[in-house]
Amino acid sequence: MPNAALTIKDNRTGRTYDVPIENGAIRANDLRQIKASESDFGLMSYDPAFLNTASCRSRITFIDGERGILRYRGYPIEQLAEKSSYLEVSYLIINGELPTADELARWTHEIMHHTFLHENVKSLIQAFRYDAHPMGILVSTVAALSTFYPDAKQVHDAKIRRLNMMRLISKLPTVAAWSYRHSLGLPYVYPVNDLSFAGNLLGMMKKMAEEKYVPNPTLEHALDVLFILHVDHEQNCATNAMRSVGSSFADPFVSVAAAASALYGPLHGGANEEVLRMLREIGSVEKVPAFVRQVKKGNGSRLMGFGHRVYKSYDPRAKVIKRMADEVFAVTGTNPLLKVALELERIALNDEYFVSRKLYPNVDFYSGLIYEAMGFPVEMFPVLFAIPRVSGWLAQWEELLEDKEQKIARPRQLYIGAQKRDFVPIEKRAGSQIF
Ligand code: CMC
Repeated sequence: MPNAALTIKDNRTGRTYDVPIENGAIRANDLRQIKASESDFGLMSYDPAFLNTASCRSRITFIDGERGILRYRGYPIEQLAEKSSYLEVSYLIINGELPTADELARWTHEIMHHTFLHENVKSLIQAFRYDAHPMGILVSTVAALSTFYPDAKQVHDAKIRRLNMMRLISKLPTVAAWSYRHSLGLPYVYPVNDLSFAGNLLGMMKKMAEEKYVPNPTLEHALDVLFILHVDHEQNCATNAMRSVGSSFADPFVSVAAAASALYGPLHGGANEEVLRMLREIGSVEKVPAFVRQVKKGNGSRLMGFGHRVYKSYDPRAKVIKRMADEVFAVTGTNPLLKVALELERIALNDEYFVSRKLYPNVDFYSGLIYEAMGFPVEMFPVLFAIPRVSGWLAQWEELLEDKEQKIARPRQLYIGAQKRDFVPIEKRAGSQIF
């Protein structure tokens, strides 16, 4: 609508203001003209956790949470999961268009030829304790890669930027696989570049004494589909960290390390790990009602893998994963925890507590069951989330760098602490009773 505007009346002064509306939003900075007095700083908006604040204009991922819609660059996630491959989607998310056959071949060649790590990285990983969480190893190693590629600092050089983006997409599976082998005390397996992206990861994790590792095609395909589903999810906690750190023009390695740290938390990419722990704790179908009662008491425990800040209906990614589970279980045998998960979902979808709060299964609810059936330990789940998400982070990072409106991310605060007071010598202090 042309000239759409919001008229605001300030009851403190009686003045009215017209604030333009564009793309369904007002600019928070337009509020600054609203002042109670000449010396007033101007009105701010207060939005802890960014519940209603858009931090950027993006062309990458569209989500309609009410209707359960997810599209990358306009393409529905269901179509991509069925017809595409992770590397094709990675190209799409970064470049904005699906590749031609020639472009895809070149992209695949580039990605699969950057998979090797500098030998020194090996000793870095070896320095971790045998039981170090692989996500801790991933975060630290990716940050350390920044020191191996000092050219990555030149974030405004498009060619160098692309080279380091490719390095990150290619090397993450190698870091992930080596952190896994490290936890088992097994020798690290070097990448095999004529395997598929998912097949190579499986090989680096699973290969033992066989001369050439041949991935099971069903599991290889399932892993590839899981990667497609995890490529991007617009401005979530980790992506926001990527953009926030990247806005200071930090290099992409340390920015990805920051994003991966955010992903590690149990409310975000760590949730799939928590789902498995929760299902194991429940243990059997008979114990599900008691567990649900416990969650509803609101004493802090949550139904992990349920609920989402944006989706207020079934997460479309969870639907794809649930359908795919049968194919995987046909190869691996059914995960006995599936029955517990299905019963939990059945009860929750019919329970007033969950229905009224619009809490539906999210992407993490079923992905863990598949990963476990495929033989991955729970600690690897967030790592498996990070591997494809790096493509999304990098697409968002590049969009940020090319966006003339963006500046260093620097939120405001509402200061509610003590007013100015004079320093008190130690012998005259009353004590704060903290210790
Ligand atoms: N189990 C029980 N109650 C819940 C849950 C849950 N999983 N999620 C939300 N609620 C309740 C919450 O207690 C609150 O109730 P009330 O209004 O009575 O206080 C209400 O629902 C709204 O919750 P919220 O915490 O305000 O919602 P949020 O948008 O801040 O949180 C969430 C979103 C994903 C952090 C949350 O739903 C959650 O903790 N889920 C479990 C963890 C999880 O599965 N995370 C993975 C998200 S999907 C993958 C990803 O993107 O990382």
